[in-house]
Amino acid sequence: MTAAKAWHDTIEVSDLEKNWVTRVEIGTRLIALYDTPSGVYASLALCNHGGADLCDGYFDGHVIECPLHQGAFDVRDGSPVAPPATRAMRVFETRIEDGMVQILL
Ligand code: FES
Repeated sequence: MTAAKAWHDTIEVSDLEKNWVTRVEIGTRLIALYDTPSGVYASLALCNHGGADLCDGYFDGHVIECPLHQGAFDVRDGSPVAPPATRAMRVFETRIEDGMVQILL
């Protein structure tokens, strides 16, 4: 049986790096929050190719480029858009509540 998902507070919207990626921790999980023109997106912070921290990567529009091998992902659905990334990264639903970014996990 899997535990039910719940909304978790992360940080205030005003604390997000504008048009960039911000690292947050929820329990033992490292999460990357992406501020974009179409809203805030969230994924696991560690790259599923070799474990690099995507928060140290380059972010442009909706694409995060991994700092280690330059694999890239679309943060809207996690899909890989540049090799060596081949698997979708894990993404999480987000919402804004009272100025706080929340993610569902
Ligand atoms: S660790 Fe991210 S592309 Fe290799």
